[in-house]
Amino acid sequence: METNTIFAWLLVIITTAITPAVNGKYNSGSHIINVPTTIKETHLHFFMHDTLSGDNPSTILVAKPSNTVVQAGNTLPFGAVYVFDDSLTEELEVTSKVIGNARGMYASVSRGMDVSLLFSGDLELTSGEFNGSSITVVCRDGPTVVKEMAVVGGRGKFRMAKGFTWINAVYVNATSGDAILEWNVTVFHQ
Ligand SMILES: *[C@@H]1O[C@H](CO)[C@@H](O)[C@H](O)[C@H]1NC(C)=O
Ligand SMILES: *[C@@H]1O[C@H](CO)[C@@H](O)[C@H](O)[C@H]1NC(C)=O
Ligand SMILES: *[C@@H]1O[C@H](CO)[C@@H](O)[C@H](O)[C@H]1NC(C)=O
Repeated sequence: METNTIFAWLLVIITTAITPAVNGKYNSGSHIINVPTTIKETHLHFFMHDTLSGDNPSTILVAKPSNTVVQAGNTLPFGAVYVFDDSLTEELEVTSKVIGNARGMYASVSRGMDVSLLFSGDLELTSGEFNGSSITVVCRDGPTVVKEMAVVGGRGKFRMAKGFTWINAVYVNATSGDAILEWNVTVFHQ
């Protein structure tokens, strides 16, 4: 390398080293924090009532592509979007104690004949120790009776939560789409 090239490189290195980190207005910089060495594990168990039929459905179809070819036997055409506000109860019966609600949407995301939904919901508890806290679930939701979904976050006592849930479709009416889902959630949180 020529001397002036070396000098140019040195200048770059020195300039980089002495330039203070400048934060834009959009952030306040990063700093190292100590993460807690212990986290809590909480189990939740409840039933979600997803009702499409009747005068007061808790799930409604809000959109589907106009050019969708609804294949026989597939009630969930690719692109269909549903919005839900389902109640969560302590027991299987819809008349049992309501302990929260699941609000969100699911979309039919398979181009094939298989049932595949993208579930995204915020499940807020409205009673007991976790009243006002919620878990956030975003996951692919398949047709199996027992399935696993991912808990990706939460609010309140479940802030920064991570976890998973097993879901068992304990009741499904294939004609109407009405379902009762049993949830067994394991949440790790601060
Ligand atoms: C849950 O919290 C809300 C808001 O603070 C309060 O109004 C409600 O009474 C609480 N419910 C129970 C069952 O504790
Ligand atoms: C949920 O937990 C209960 C009690 O342990 C168990 O009977 C049930 O089979 C579990 N269901 C799922 C879907 O994991
Ligand atoms: C399933 O849903 C259909 C359509 O709403 C209804 O006619 C039928 O009675 C339901 N079956 C049961 C077992 O509830």
